[in-house]
Amino acid sequence: MIHPNQIEVWNKQLQGKTPQEVIAFFLNLFKDKIALSTSMGLEDQVLTHMVSEINRKARFFTLDTGRLFPETYDLIDRTAKKYRITIEVFFPDAADVEQMVAEKGINLFYDSIENRKRCCHLRKIKPLMRATQNLDAWITGLRREQAVTRKGLKTVEWDAINELVKINPLIDWTEQQIWDYVDRYNVPVNPLHKKGFASIGCQPCTRAIEPGEDVRAGRWWWENPETKECGLHKR
Ligand code: ADX
Ligand code: SF4
Repeated sequence: MIHPNQIEVWNKQLQGKTPQEVIAFFLNLFKDKIALSTSMGLEDQVLTHMVSEINRKARFFTLDTGRLFPETYDLIDRTAKKYRITIEVFFPDAADVEQMVAEKGINLFYDSIENRKRCCHLRKIKPLMRATQNLDAWITGLRREQAVTRKGLKTVEWDAINELVKINPLIDWTEQQIWDYVDRYNVPVNPLHKKGFASIGCQPCTRAIEPGEDVRAGRWWWENPETKECGLHKR
């Protein structure tokens, strides 16, 4: 258990540091008890490049909900090969999914927020719990700019739900900075971004956005912005 003061101390100490400096600091501190949680999104691809430059043997994991885009599976493979890293893949419990689908149908998430949350819980949250059970800290690609629900985030947080230190090295970055980094280092990205998909999650819950729309407008587009968190970051 980390004392809340410690989080504040780290945030002060790391103020003005680059994402690479933040990552290096925590990789060194937590060793094999820290991992990058990647959805293969733009931010996560930038972080994967940064982390693998510091230590190729660092830990990376992704949550395969079973409903991802084919392009995302392809990207998992391409990224692991390009950076010569291991990306651990966590899958939902088969019995959980079978029961949910038997009760509510295969595309239950469109019917109610309750159904959508149940699906996210089984396909993402429970696998996340398994993925993080031996960790002390996780690194995410969250940015403040992404959503109303993310405005107050800091570089380092205490994640009370998962009982982990949560590190968000790109918290202050703009979308333009992300794209500049991708271009500069030729980072592999999901080809769907070029087709209007800004933020990419599961296939049935993600659509392309129109120019000028919010980056997360294509995620669970039938819900209000205030409810649009799958529970990985807010429950
Ligand atoms: S979500 O909560 O709406 O799904 P978003 O797609 O914005 O989250 O991603 C925010 C961060 O959560 C990512 O940068 C990544 O660290 C983590 N994340 C989201 N989805 C996954 C996933 N399927 N596997 C691993 N990490 C994920
Ligand atoms: Fe299920 Fe959609 Fe959540 Fe994916 S994003 S876990 S398909 S409700």
